[in-house]
Amino acid sequence: MRGKFITLEGGEGAGKTTQIKLLGEYLTQKGIETVLTKEPGGTPIGQELRSILCTGDKDKIDAVAEALLYYADRRIHVCQKILPALNRGAWVISDRFADSTMAYQCYGYKDRISKDTLNELYKITVGDLKPDLTIILDIDPKIGLARSLERNASSQIQETRHEGRALEFHQNLRNGFLEISKTDSRYAVIDANCPVEELHKKIVRLIESRISDA
Ligand code: TMP
Repeated sequence: MRGKFITLEGGEGAGKTTQIKLLGEYLTQKGIETVLTKEPGGTPIGQELRSILCTGDKDKIDAVAEALLYYADRRIHVCQKILPALNRGAWVISDRFADSTMAYQCYGYKDRISKDTLNELYKITVGDLKPDLTIILDIDPKIGLARSLERNASSQIQETRHEGRALEFHQNLRNGFLEISKTDSRYAVIDANCPVEELHKKIVRLIESRISDA
């Protein structure tokens, strides 16, 4: 049987990475083969694209160029990692997927790249594949950005390209994710401003209520 595809989305510092790790441990304990992955950078070539996209000056490339690079990363990710895993029955949990492109490159920049263009890119590069469940971790950008910059300060790689944008960008982004969540029943929004363990429990409860064989 084909595996399940779950994506976690949200602005900077929402806690996705920690939650994905906890979720992976939880599903593995239940005997489910679980592949934890991320965008950008879920494959070796994707790692090179991630370095271009996430480091350096925030204005070094525009929203259109960004969207094309994120979709190049996604195409390789889907073909080389996500589909093979789903086809062998594994569950794939991805830290970001196409909703991030819609939120960042469209809503974040106030429609600098249109929804229609992004939907078209999705059709060309991803085709019919759609997550079974997309969890949006919602947090006030002021809290999220502070968390994210703190994390970066203790990291060797400075992935602060998006954090460097104005607060308005991050507020547009949050509103974008909330708007996107109304467009399909596969979305669920969770308030992420709570302790790690509490958030993990909320995510597990959600998955058990939405996915029958969880
Ligand atoms: P991360 O820090 O959550 O791993 O995400 C990397 C950065 O890339 C983050 O600032 C969001 C950004 N991003 C986009 O702008 N568009 C996309 O399509 C994706 C997947 C990520």
